[in-house]
Amino acid sequence: MIRICPSVLSADFSKLGDECRDVITGGADWIHYDVMDGVFVPNISVGLPVLKSISKTVKAFYDVHLMITDPIRYVDDFADAGASHISFHLEAQSDAVATIEAIHKKGILAGIALKPGTPAEDIFPYLDVLDLVLVMTVEPGFGGQKFMADMCPKIRKIRERADSIGRSDLLIQVDGGIDSDTAPVVSGAGADVLVAGSAVFNKKDRAGAIAAIRAAAEDALCRQDK
Ligand code: DX5
Ligand code: ZN
Repeated sequence: MIRICPSVLSADFSKLGDECRDVITGGADWIHYDVMDGVFVPNISVGLPVLKSISKTVKAFYDVHLMITDPIRYVDDFADAGASHISFHLEAQSDAVATIEAIHKKGILAGIALKPGTPAEDIFPYLDVLDLVLVMTVEPGFGGQKFMADMCPKIRKIRERADSIGRSDLLIQVDGGIDSDTAPVVSGAGADVLVAGSAVFNKKDRAGAIAAIRAAAEDALCRQDK
């Protein structure tokens, strides 16, 4: 099953509630909420109060991507603000196992994100306890960047390893430069949760954009299964 997650980074923040409602009505599965601290990545986005407000206003699955230096400090706060899933970076300072445990303790899904330069093998020790691995297909920090096709072998390696340890249920998410042209490339490699920022929010017809990305991804999944 393919999940499409519009990233609010490309939304109009002056009417964020309406923007989130628009993509959920338009068929989005999750809302991808990018948190940047200006230290772990060279950009600052949104944080706790904004998530608290929109999660109260628009009922949805809030997929929180923490691009911050010490994620474990903020796990409880983001969960309380409405996160349904939290992913943090393996390259961040917090102990990965302790952070996964803290997320699970809040009763929500836990994921780890990998920057493009981090090899697939680095995530292998955590696969049995994770719900999701996020493979970044751009350098984290900004929307609207060019998709890195050379991340596909990494997706494939993680999918193969997960299958081999009985974790075929592990979700593999991709984030960065995903549109209806790149969606089949990543789903063919084994990704099933697709973040798309500019390819959804920069379009007038968001429902059409979501449907086109989903159809392109599902088509490649089917071909891979044959
Ligand atoms: C980048 C963010 C992404 C970003 C994706 O650091 O994590 O979620 O919003 O934007 P697009 O889809 O435009 O590349
Ligand atoms: Zn993201």
